[in-house]
Amino acid sequence: MEGRLGAGSASASSGDDDNDDSWIGTGVVGANCGTSWATCVPNGSASGADACSMEVEIVQIFDDSSPGGMCKNGIAINPGVEGDSKSGLFASNDNMLLSELDSTFINDASVLSGFLWGVGSSAFQTEGAWDKDGKGPSIWDTFTHKKGKVFMNETADSSCEGYYKVKDDIQLLKELKVNHYLLSISWPRIIPTGIKKEQVNEKGIKFYNDTINSLLENKIIPIVTLYHWDLPQVLQEKYGGWQNISMISYFNDYANLCFEKFGDRVKYWITFNNPWAIAEEGYETGEHAPGLKLSGVGAYKAAHHIIKTHAKVWHSYNKTWRSKQQGMVGISLTSAWGEPVDLTSQKDIEAAERYVQFYLGWFANPIYSGDYPEVMKNYVGRKSAQQGLGTSRLPSFSVQEKSYIKGTSDFLGINHFTTRYIIEKNYSAFQGPSYHTDRDLAELVDPKWPDPGSKWLYSVPWGFRRLLNFVKTQYGNPLIYITENGVSEKLQCIQLCDEWRMDYLKGYINELLKAINDGVNVKGYTVWSLLDKFEWNKGYSERFGLYHVDFKKGNKPRYPKASVQYYKMIINANGFPNPREVKSWHQKAIETCSITNQLLAADPLTSHMEMVTEIVVPTVFTLCILISAILLMFLLRKHN
Ligand code: BGC
Repeated sequence: MEGRLGAGSASASSGDDDNDDSWIGTGVVGANCGTSWATCVPNGSASGADACSMEVEIVQIFDDSSPGGMCKNGIAINPGVEGDSKSGLFASNDNMLLSELDSTFINDASVLSGFLWGVGSSAFQTEGAWDKDGKGPSIWDTFTHKKGKVFMNETADSSCEGYYKVKDDIQLLKELKVNHYLLSISWPRIIPTGIKKEQVNEKGIKFYNDTINSLLENKIIPIVTLYHWDLPQVLQEKYGGWQNISMISYFNDYANLCFEKFGDRVKYWITFNNPWAIAEEGYETGEHAPGLKLSGVGAYKAAHHIIKTHAKVWHSYNKTWRSKQQGMVGISLTSAWGEPVDLTSQKDIEAAERYVQFYLGWFANPIYSGDYPEVMKNYVGRKSAQQGLGTSRLPSFSVQEKSYIKGTSDFLGINHFTTRYIIEKNYSAFQGPSYHTDRDLAELVDPKWPDPGSKWLYSVPWGFRRLLNFVKTQYGNPLIYITENGVSEKLQCIQLCDEWRMDYLKGYINELLKAINDGVNVKGYTVWSLLDKFEWNKGYSERFGLYHVDFKKGNKPRYPKASVQYYKMIINANGFPNPREVKSWHQKAIETCSITNQLLAADPLTSHMEMVTEIVVPTVFTLCILISAILLMFLLRKHN
């Protein structure tokens, strides 16, 4: 069993900050348990427990009582403000702490010198133009075109029309004054069948060339993901996608084409975004494309091929391109933090460790230590044997493969959104093979945790710092870029005053700064995401954007939410200067969004006017010409 390095290390060692909402200052992290309720675990066992008077009620996920809100004329009115502790951020202890009890701050810009602040997006979620200019179909095009796979059967066929709005979106990035933009390349847009020797689509190459050039002209660093889930459909049909080892060479050809075409300008490459979801949701539960339900087997196999592919691409870059292009190649891994429910229970401590190892360690361990985590090998191996299988459902690496894979990341991208409490829960092997039951644990959440949007996304800032310290101790303090962190909302109408997002960002960025103070080597942070966009099987129902997108309108207009102003201030100050100023950012942002809201409330009139100018006027004009022509003909005939 691996040592539980993260939770017991820097973040928790002072015994004070399981849910420490104080601002980071001079290294003193000192919220007390009386106001920091999450330290009070059942049995009153947490450090500082004598100060804990509140009992924590923890429930099994997932309850689906997202707050929502009310729309009037398509505009949100005070969503969640009156909410109870379940419905939002406004009544939660966390926010009271952040806004009222903040006393210490980081005010030392040198700590963050050269730090990159940015926002992200991905090709499939934003580009649209799914079949335009020679693009081939991806597994997500096929998946979304089937009925019953996505909320309301929505598709990403046009999505944000990002393919046609690069210049507009770069203006948004300039407005935010970000240092970098994280984007992904659509493999089937540049290689329609996924097989390079069959065809390269020059229009696709041109599109990404233009995008990269425009970013650089505007002094925005492109961080480019090669694979954000949109596998060419042909590769799925012909070979079974990531179930097949042949993906390694097809992907390597694609990656080399990208290095060749764009590598003179792109210096940060990410091979895969969130391979956990690719494997688990694509090949285990089937909730994502390609929709295969190969429980207990498919995800492990897909992950195995993805890890090998990542290593191959890193070696290709290292051998062929690094000396000329001087860039870096990493991978973006997603993980929630797992906190033991009962800190005195060795079983819960081990279960929480297992949770993170099955999530992050599954991919990070091979890359940093050369093999799957011991605990994964043990658990999956034992259950496989109990299920009468001759070998483990978790594939193994040969000795050569281990050393080939170890050390193949110049930096680690971390995607992080949320936290879970974990308890041990034994599942009988006879329930059938499954990744989930292999772990022998249950995930719990505190109902007081704010959850404004996606039902899985509870705002628990302190988990971020713990996860980052875990990464530091487990993988030898690697260079880290946060490649996704953000929060969604569910409301369908225009909702620009996103206070919950500002609070989420404040809390999470503050914990990030604490982690940096702990010595975690984080050099960049990316808010997920620039725009509201297609949220995979949730369609457009969950909105992560700093900018609201009106998907009902043909040109998909973007409107800034309050968090645009707020994040801009954080970037400008390179962190948080002092509580008073941060509070004033919040107020200013709310003032701005209220004005935009008012303007938009007048929008029905604007659309009416648009209809008059775009449809009624031309039609009347054409009719007039027609009638005049007929009259003229009539007159001429009469005259003759
Ligand atoms: C994915 C994003 C997605 C986000 C929220 C991440 O793991 O990489 O594409 O928008 O989850 O669902």
